[in-house]
Amino acid sequence: MRAARITSTNGPRSVQIDEIAEPVAGPGEILIDVEAAGVNFPDLLMSRNLYQYKPELPFVMGGELAGTVREAQPGSGFAPGDRVVAATTVGAFAPTVAAPADRVLHLPASVAFTAGACLPLNYLTMAHGLIRRGGLSEGETVLVHGAAGGIGTATLQLAQAWGARVISVVSTPEKADFVKALGSDEVVLAEGFKDAVLELTSGAGADLVVDPVGGDRFTDSLRCLAPLGRLLVLGFTAGDIPTVKVNRLLLNNIDVRGVGWGAYLLKHPEIFQEDWDRLVPLLEAGRIDPPVHRTYALNEVGAAVASLEERGVLGKAVVLPRT
Ligand SMILES: NC(=O)c1ccc[n+]([C@@H]2O[C@H](COP(=O)([O-])OP(=O)(O)OC[C@H]3O[C@@H](n4cnc5c(N)ncnc54)[C@H](OP(=O)(O)O)[C@@H]3O)[C@@H](O)[C@H]2O)c1
Repeated sequence: MRAARITSTNGPRSVQIDEIAEPVAGPGEILIDVEAAGVNFPDLLMSRNLYQYKPELPFVMGGELAGTVREAQPGSGFAPGDRVVAATTVGAFAPTVAAPADRVLHLPASVAFTAGACLPLNYLTMAHGLIRRGGLSEGETVLVHGAAGGIGTATLQLAQAWGARVISVVSTPEKADFVKALGSDEVVLAEGFKDAVLELTSGAGADLVVDPVGGDRFTDSLRCLAPLGRLLVLGFTAGDIPTVKVNRLLLNNIDVRGVGWGAYLLKHPEIFQEDWDRLVPLLEAGRIDPPVHRTYALNEVGAAVASLEERGVLGKAVVLPRT
């Protein structure tokens, strides 16, 4: 089969389309024919050897997918023909994948494969982030950075579905129009966002800040928090890892909390299905519906991953490995 492989970590444009052997399902694995695979910032980081997980070269890229079960052992909970999604970390930019059964989930019939492929990483991360780490309550105000991106749109949709008011932070008017159309309660541009947020909240600030961007916005994000507010650290797409002077936390009664979904999942595998069970009713009711910016053929994987670096994606980029 043809697959998108990284053979040297020189960035997304060095992805190669190689002919490799089809995988064989080992014990505890499900063989899945992949219909669609989501593109995520960690793919970009792995293509430059900048991610915390460093697979041995060469490796097939792609951390999440939607598709159809081809082979499953009896008692695995899956059967040939089942529509599924899976979180694989690597391997999804290929027509067929062998995935551990405990990283596979049933996809409701009403959800298209392209949308399903966007769910495992971002929506499960933000279910964990908003509920377990953020302690989100109905009626709270959530400020989300990078709101037009993958984590950003998942945050927007989930926080609203759970009764929050969402203020989105984006870098361009085009992205502002996009998140407004998705239903964001308010939208502010990254430039000068602190004053805009304080004005929108009559000086009160936000209860929760979701930050997948990092960099120099961090201190102003802390200044946007209401008393007992929480800032969730998700990632650092801006490049720099910010530091915090802890006197700010003391003076304002606020928290900075890390969200590391993958690390928590390793020690608490039960959250994979538990959080999916929170998402399924929202998917079936159409309350969450990942926005797909565009789809890419397998030989366009390099361009798909590069589009994240170029900051050009509205929602998610999705690869169709069978095209
Ligand atoms: N902690 C976890 O468990 C976990 C799980 C999944 C992902 N993540 C992390 O979350 C972050 C976001 O991932 P994602 O897949 O949502 O990425 P994405 O779709 O590319 O969105 C990232 C957003 O970051 C903003 N950004 C600001 N500066 C940027 C820059 N220099 N280059 C690129 N984007 C920039 C962009 O919005 P504007 O242009 O509007 O500023 C963009 O929409 C990544 O760091 C990823 O590793 C963490």
